[in-house]
Amino acid sequence: MTTNRPDRRTFAIISHPDAGKTTLTEKLLLFGGAIHLAGEVKARGQNRRARSDWMKIEQQRGISVTSSVMTFERDGITFNLLDTPGHEDFSEDTYRTLTAVDSAVMVIDAAKGIEPQTRKLFEVCRLRSVPIITFVNKVDREGRECFALLDEIADMLALDVCPMSWPVGMGGQFEGVYDLHANVLRQPTGDSRMFEGKLTQFTGLDDPRLAEAVSAEGLARLHEEAELALHGYAAFDVEAYRHGDLTPVFFGSALKEFGVAELIAALGRYAPPPRPQPAEPAAISPDHDNVTGFIFKVQANMDPQHRDRIAFMRLCSGKFRRGMKLTPTGHGKPIAVHSPILFFAQDRELAEEAWPGDIIGIPNHGTLRVGDTLTEGESIRFTGLPNFAPEILRRVVLVDPTKTKQLRKALDDMAEEGVTQVFYPEIGSNWIIGVVGQLQLDVLLSRLDAEYKVAAKLEPSPWDTARWISGDEAAMKAFANINQSALAKDRDGNLVFMAKSAWEVGYVQDRNPDIRFNATRER
Ligand code: G4P
Repeated sequence: MTTNRPDRRTFAIISHPDAGKTTLTEKLLLFGGAIHLAGEVKARGQNRRARSDWMKIEQQRGISVTSSVMTFERDGITFNLLDTPGHEDFSEDTYRTLTAVDSAVMVIDAAKGIEPQTRKLFEVCRLRSVPIITFVNKVDREGRECFALLDEIADMLALDVCPMSWPVGMGGQFEGVYDLHANVLRQPTGDSRMFEGKLTQFTGLDDPRLAEAVSAEGLARLHEEAELALHGYAAFDVEAYRHGDLTPVFFGSALKEFGVAELIAALGRYAPPPRPQPAEPAAISPDHDNVTGFIFKVQANMDPQHRDRIAFMRLCSGKFRRGMKLTPTGHGKPIAVHSPILFFAQDRELAEEAWPGDIIGIPNHGTLRVGDTLTEGESIRFTGLPNFAPEILRRVVLVDPTKTKQLRKALDDMAEEGVTQVFYPEIGSNWIIGVVGQLQLDVLLSRLDAEYKVAAKLEPSPWDTARWISGDEAAMKAFANINQSALAKDRDGNLVFMAKSAWEVGYVQDRNPDIRFNATRER
């Protein structure tokens, strides 16, 4: 058994665009001592954008396409924050990132409540029983009534909610945030009305000194609301939280730094350390002796000077040491990992060692793919990294037909990274690419041009959707005979049925009960 494993919390923030994820990320890093000036996360993003051509899209659309890992430490615990792209077109990438975390923080805008993207991401967390801490952001502005927000979370997400803190007023009436369990009031100070350390300990909500700290109106409201909050909702239960049945709710303002320290403390105290990861033939415990991990993301172009790509591996067990040889299960030879990278807010460092829950970047030339399991030689495979049926299919047409080879290489590379899926029809030479969101098409064209010097156009595809098919040999053969013109192979040679509509999928499915049609393919 591996002993003395250092403490890790590996988590992601899920939210709808604009709820405040970037601001909260920045403040978490600031409080964790990983950055020293507010504004650095954005500044760093801008530097990177300026250097990288294809990220022009990000700039034009004002969204963040890439996702990365940020590490910070506080109170002896290492926090690995996995950033997820907020834009809905990139949900596939986000979903995969969520397979690599042990818990999540859900950020909600106090004025907007649960928004569509929050809800979608929440559903993914629920599928994997990922425990969630809720952060209701922007209480320094006018927001919706706290009870309405809590009830919405409880009803829409079918979760027990447990308020951990309570705002004394919102917007113009905002006088601070009261910690319902520690009985501490944090208040805004100075012109900026930031939280700058004005913190008062009380004996309870009935402490007479509270009347000196807040206005009479604020006090009356706090008394009434906090009583209801404490008695009207579930009591905090760490087991229920860890099972994904209850979410503790913090009210705060990332911008004004309210609730950030409490959030980190709660992650440290309650969020689960690395959990056993689902695998075949059996789940792998973090205490398993040997090193195991899986690749949940591959990113090219992190450094425009190099054509290397970085595969992000979540370490699931064992103690990793630099130079170790790891083998991708099912394909490939052992790889000596000489330059594993650990990610900090602004820096990257060579990882001399890493522990379960850590994310290391492995530079490679395309040998590692999303979904790969890496081990010291054991034959196991981590499960549950989904490949989604594409919702948009396009035919790729070369402007210069002599560039076929380059195009194939580029499409294979990008399929490997999980940017797009590629389908090679059994008949004909029209390569089809598939994506789950429109934005991926722009990224694809832009990268073809910038990185591979291939000018291409996208035309409507004769097909509208695709399903991975499987079944016994005889059934597959019979099916292939009749449907050859609608069959293609994906990057890994798996057979895919191309359909003109979801209706057609249903129709063909009804007539071929021996064939399984899968909208996702687990890698
Ligand atoms: P995102 O990553 O979830 O998309 O959101 P982001 O942090 O970029 O925040 C979206 C907007 O909300 C930003 O304003 C940000 O300053 C603001 N914001 C975030 N947290 C709070 C908060 O606690 N209180 C208030 N009042 N505002 C908050 P912006 O005007 O769009 O951008 P910027 O020009 O201020 O950077």
